[in-house]
Amino acid sequence: MKKLMVVQSIGAIMLFIIMGFFAACEGPAGAPGADGKDGKDGTNGTNGTNGTNGTNASESCRQCHNATSILVAKSLQLNHSLHVKGEAWLEGTRNSCAPCHSSQGFLDVIKTSAPKNKYLASASTLTDPTPLGCRACHKIHTAFDSTDFNLTTVAAVDMMIDTTKALVLDLGGSSNLCLKCHQPRIIKQMDFVNAPTTAYTAITSYRWGTHYGTQGAMVGGKGAFEFAGTETYSNSIHKTGASCVKCHSGPASGISGGHTFSVVNEETGALNTLGCTVSGCHSSSATVNTMVTTVRTDIDALIIALGDKLATYLEKTDGKYTGYVDIYDASANPDAAYRNPNNGNVSFPAVNNKTAAAIANFQLVVRDKSRGVHNYPYIKALLTNTIAALP
Ligand code: HEC
Ligand code: HEC
Ligand code: HEC
Ligand code: HEC
Ligand code: HEC
Repeated sequence: MKKLMVVQSIGAIMLFIIMGFFAACEGPAGAPGADGKDGKDGTNGTNGTNGTNGTNASESCRQCHNATSILVAKSLQLNHSLHVKGEAWLEGTRNSCAPCHSSQGFLDVIKTSAPKNKYLASASTLTDPTPLGCRACHKIHTAFDSTDFNLTTVAAVDMMIDTTKALVLDLGGSSNLCLKCHQPRIIKQMDFVNAPTTAYTAITSYRWGTHYGTQGAMVGGKGAFEFAGTETYSNSIHKTGASCVKCHSGPASGISGGHTFSVVNEETGALNTLGCTVSGCHSSSATVNTMVTTVRTDIDALIIALGDKLATYLEKTDGKYTGYVDIYDASANPDAAYRNPNNGNVSFPAVNNKTAAAIANFQLVVRDKSRGVHNYPYIKALLTNTIAALP
């Protein structure tokens, strides 16, 4: 009995111990552990670009495409201008011609600010050239509002004729637009002042010289080869008081003025003097016509006199010096006196710096085509002093 009780007691103690053991292990839940470290941030995705605002057709396009006749009028006038009716824009496939002959080439050199000695259009602008329409001169379809009539450039022009020095001409505003194209092209320079008798050997083709469209240089009195002489070089009031468009785009009358850019009526040949009188510069059409006649009598005589002094070198057609040099070209100058295989292949006479400069001056004036009107005192001085400098 006693033994059984002992066994039972031992069992009870063991049970107690075991239960106590379990009771000790199973305490209340501990406080939560500290948070784990944050993981690395993920990288943000890039923002999407905003779409451009849609234009409101009734507000934007109608600023120009509307019931007025302004676009129609300008287009019809421009159709009579050589800018679109001429054929020289077809030269727009060549990088040295496109800058002045195609709309795309011109806009390209404005964009790339081509310096004077690199007046070359980018290759991408040489396919499908277009003539000099609205887009060449106005920022058409860029902002799609009336500011698109702003001009594509009005910056002062780095002239091309002399690539050896900075020759910047600023005729102001819209005249700089015209000047960017209506300027003489590169000529290999000659030191006619310090080395007048040194040989000048660059004349190898009938086309040597200034190219056409020398007007900007003559209006501005810059870029010519100014021989010293009895006449001093000064500029007409036209340089600052007028502008290319004041004279060439005066009120339209017949086929002249406005966006024909012509001062001469295509049908009658009469001068459109509305631009000369409308701004109060000249009192009447009659006084302008008298002044033009006087100026032209003087300048035409001087042009012939200089041509005669250079007769040995210059080409003459129908009794008039054309401005070309008399060197053979199979298609353009087949009857030339020099280098003509059909005429004894006579070599072109030696030319010195002084003579070359004089030929260039002759071209500058002839290819200006205004016969003195653009800048009478300057053109008169240039011709008079050049003539006097020649033997
Ligand atoms: C600053 C004035 C102006 C605004 C604003 C304007 N246009 Fe023009 N648009 C022109 C001129 C200038 C032409 C060319 C006319 C010419 O070559 O004879 C033209 C030509 C066009 C042409 C003919 C094809 C072409 O490109 O030459 C279409 C189509 C045209 N515009 C649509 C529009 C639409 C659509 C809007 C508005 C979203 C608009 N235009 C806003 C001036 C404008
Ligand atoms: C992008 C070059 C360029 C610009 C800018 C330009 N012209 Fe011209 N212009 C020409 C070319 C090239 C011709 C000749 C086109 C032809 O014969 O096919 C010409 C022809 C002319 C003619 C007719 C010439 C003639 O022998 O009958 C006049 C006048 C004229 N431009 C005046 C202007 C005026 C004024 C401006 C400024 C408002 C101007 N041009 C701007 C390139 C230009
Ligand atoms: C700096 C601008 C300029 C560059 C560059 C230029 N031209 Fe011209 N070119 C003119 C202007 C301006 C006229 C129009 C002059 C005028 O009518 O009084 C013209 C006129 C012409 C004419 C018409 C001449 C006529 O009286 O029938 C031809 C052809 C021509 N250029 C060919 C070329 C060729 C080819 C090149 C490239 C090798 C070239 N031009 C580069 C400005 C340029
Ligand atoms: C050879 C360059 C030339 C071409 C090509 C040309 N314009 Fe102009 N346009 C001008 C100049 C320069 C002005 C005068 C801007 C000034 O006086 O400030 C002008 C003025 C205008 C004006 C008056 C703008 C105003 O703010 O008052 C309109 C409208 C206009 N042109 C429309 C056209 C249209 C349409 C075409 C095409 C059919 C066109 N132009 C082609 C040079 C050009
Ligand atoms: C004072 C007025 C006046 C100014 C300023 C003027 N011109 Fe002229 N321009 C004329 C007259 C007049 C002629 C001769 C027109 C004729 O008899 O064929 C002429 C001739 C021309 C010619 C030859 C084509 C033609 O119509 O006979 C071109 C091209 C020309 N000018 C461009 C310009 C450019 C570019 C400017 C600015 C740099 C300019 N002109 C500034 C009045 C002017």
